Amino acid sequence: MSGLPDGYRLSDAAPGTADYRALRERSGLSPKTEGQARGAIDGAWTFRTVTAPSGEVVAMGRIVGDGGWYFLVADMATYPEHQGRGLGAAVLDALLAAVREHAEPGAYVTLTADPPGRRLYASRGFEDVAPDRTGMWLLT
Ligand SMILES: CC(C)(COP(=O)(O)OP(=O)(O)OC[C@H]1O[C@@H](n2cnc3c(N)ncnc32)[C@H](O)[C@@H]1OP(=O)(O)O)[C@@H](O)C(=O)NCCC(=O)NCCS
Repeated sequence: MSGLPDGYRLSDAAPGTADYRALRERSGLSPKTEGQARGAIDGAWTFRTVTAPSGEVVAMGRIVGDGGWYFLVADMATYPEHQGRGLGAAVLDALLAAVREHAEPGAYVTLTADPPGRRLYASRGFEDVAPDRTGMWLLT
């Protein structure tokens, strides 16, 4: 597990829609509407956020899952000025601990790794899907 710098606090509270949208946008992820943010927050299986000493929410991550065996890590984001301090690792470790606590062994945890996250995910045991099985997507 990761430790957080002094004064930072890890929580299982979801962010508000304003924090959610700002975290995605300022960390370089695609912007989402208010309605998309509401759905993401209400529909998450679990969330983790990190609050800075100032009280501002500065990092987040969530899992979309069925509670049984399939879990998708999403919305991993840390404000650029707070990156590299272990916040993302603390969020991911807490999300994975929740899966291990609530799901039977053998749960499938998946994510799409953007380049900034690859090292973090690899350090926690994530592996590329097999070369003959590629991710596919559709934007509606
Ligand atoms: C991915 C992200 C959430 C990591 O958050 P973080 O708070 O910086 O994470 P940590 O400080 O816990 O660092 C975790 C690891 O990632 C590495 N790392 C941090 N920022 C990085 C960056 N910008 N590029 C490459 N590696 C980075 C750290 O070196 C660390 O590895 P180490 O422990 O082996 O040194 C953050 O970089 C981010 O918000 N990126 C932009 C948004 C994004 O692409 N999110 C989706 C990723 S799928």
